[in-house]
Amino acid sequence: MKISKALEKQNKEHPVAGMEGELDDHLYMYHMPYSYTAEQIRKIRTQIFHMTNRAIPRVIMVTSSVPSEGKTIVASNLAISIAKSEEKHVLLIECDMRKPTLYRVFKFPKSPGLSEIIQGKATIEDCLVKTPIEKFTILPAAENPPSNPSELLESRRMASIIEEVATRYSDRFIILDTPPIQATVDPKIISGQADAIIVVARYRYIKRGDFEAALDNLPRDKIIGTVLNAVDEIPAVKYKYKKYKYDKYY
Ligand SMILES: Nc1ncnc2c1ncn2[C@@H]1O[C@H](COP(=O)(O)OP(=O)(O)O)[C@@H](O)[C@H]1O
Ligand SMILES: [Mg+2]
Repeated sequence: MKISKALEKQNKEHPVAGMEGELDDHLYMYHMPYSYTAEQIRKIRTQIFHMTNRAIPRVIMVTSSVPSEGKTIVASNLAISIAKSEEKHVLLIECDMRKPTLYRVFKFPKSPGLSEIIQGKATIEDCLVKTPIEKFTILPAAENPPSNPSELLESRRMASIIEEVATRYSDRFIILDTPPIQATVDPKIISGQADAIIVVARYRYIKRGDFEAALDNLPRDKIIGTVLNAVDEIPAVKYKYKKYKYDKYY
């Protein structure tokens, strides 16, 4: 009894991915590394690491114009695939402080992250969440979304925390999972911290104009590719037709 109480406390202080159940089905790189979709993700990774015209990016931002295009799923799978293949550790930073979702994907209790670090309530180390995947750690966005209404100020602070994390963990790859560009000012400010940007576009969901507006809001020279995420919602074919396509953006 005593031991389990102590463990409970310890776990409460240090949430671990998988504590609250099986990791999300859409983490193909974890559940189905030999599936077609996982293969597409590996291709994206390979292209990132073999770009002839630029250095290998260390801080990679994943974004899109509107919600639900698959940013979090693409960022998570990409992070897992890098952790599985490269020599380095990977840190996935969730930058959407208003709508944290990584805790649901990786099944850990809602726990402090960027928001609490910004508020001085937690340190970076306090907030890191370990996962069952070797060399792969998560920094969540927030246990409690910030009440501070100054989005711009918050975004700037977030950018400086990301910079601090990137400097402190200079031996790791860092993947930034961001809020949608249209909804906030964050991605613009966050993009300042990124070496490279990947833009996710959900097939048959996003309007061309919105996609182009998103691109206009980002530093073009940092955009290394777009991922066409084909989310098929018909249950019967759910696993068959999910595709990631990677295009070089010029
Ligand atoms: N390729 C895919 N196939 C099937 N479902 C997907 C795919 N990509 C994302 N989804 C689902 O779509 C929803 C939105 O994805 P998410 O990554 O949370 O979007 P965002 O972070 O852009 O808001 C989630 O329920 C996710 O599981
Ligand atoms: Mg998301």
